[in-house]
Amino acid sequence: MTQQVVIKEVAARDGLQAQPKHLTVEQRMSLLVALAQTGVPELEIGSFVSPKAVPQMAGTDEIAANLPPVDLAYSALVPNMKGYELAVQAGIRSHAIALAATEEMNQNNIRKSLEETLVMGEDILDRAAAEGVAVHAYLAVAFECPYEGPVSESLVLEQVDRLMQHKPARLVIADTIGAANPAAVQSMMQKLVDRYGPDQLGCHFHDTRAMGLANVYAALQAGVRQFDASAGGLGGCPFAPGAKGNVATEDVVMLCESMGYETGIAMPNLLDAVALLSDMIGAPQGGRAHTWLTKQCA
Ligand code: COA
Ligand code: ZN
Repeated sequence: MTQQVVIKEVAARDGLQAQPKHLTVEQRMSLLVALAQTGVPELEIGSFVSPKAVPQMAGTDEIAANLPPVDLAYSALVPNMKGYELAVQAGIRSHAIALAATEEMNQNNIRKSLEETLVMGEDILDRAAAEGVAVHAYLAVAFECPYEGPVSESLVLEQVDRLMQHKPARLVIADTIGAANPAAVQSMMQKLVDRYGPDQLGCHFHDTRAMGLANVYAALQAGVRQFDASAGGLGGCPFAPGAKGNVATEDVVMLCESMGYETGIAMPNLLDAVALLSDMIGAPQGGRAHTWLTKQCA
């Protein structure tokens, strides 16, 4: 039986939040329509954050009210309980909460200490469980922090153990600045898969040092089957200096399908979405295999 790899498409959130060019709500809607037509099973639509902190994501409530009626899991990022409530009010039943593994990153990202962040994460997870909302808990900067440097594996494993007691729908290990290497990924993800099984785990990689795909491969080898990716490799984090784009969805699809996994994503439709994105951003986007993939689909 062919194994499935589940991809969550994050270009409309992780990708757009760091762009100097702010897209309009209408542009973001047309991007989401194009992404919804790729066959991707999970699509992040934006975030319910302070528009002062991330103006690129203003109007996510409007977007939530007008999503294309396609059978896929729409989700949104929320930074705190207020964001959780706003997302629920907007009809979103699947949330991502970003909890960073280090003190400094939490201070810079959401103006909370590490301990306050973990307690907030636990509160959101408990409330979501009671209200039937699925929450993906992200441990950001899980390998290296732009402010504190390398992050110890044992610290991350302890944080995962703590969060897992509150039953997230998924626990996502995030290499926010793209500093992980395949050996570190294999080591951490193998321990987590052994402890928790693959169903509740995911990975989120950035391609800053050209190791994004190698890290996906390492996580696949450890048994992980759920990955975030961003069409065209768009991305970055406004609060993580030096962070580049996510690993490109088209590259992840190519890697997985060439190894015999199924993603359900139609490459021609995905490349159409990347072309639309390039058009709207005003600069060519595309993963490492962009030229080759475009020729194949022509
Ligand atoms: N959505 C919208 N507005 C929010 C909000 C949310 N989730 N949380 C707080 N606010 C508003 C408050 O209502 C308040 O508004 P007011 O000034 O009109 O009274 C204002 O923001 C300040 O509230 P406070 O609780 O003091 O927040 P803060 O200034 O400490 O900022 C965050 C904290 C989390 C809201 C802000 O840092 C943020 O949105 N960060 C986004 C992080 C992010 O998206 N990072 C990238 C992804 S990893
Ligand atoms: Zn990211």
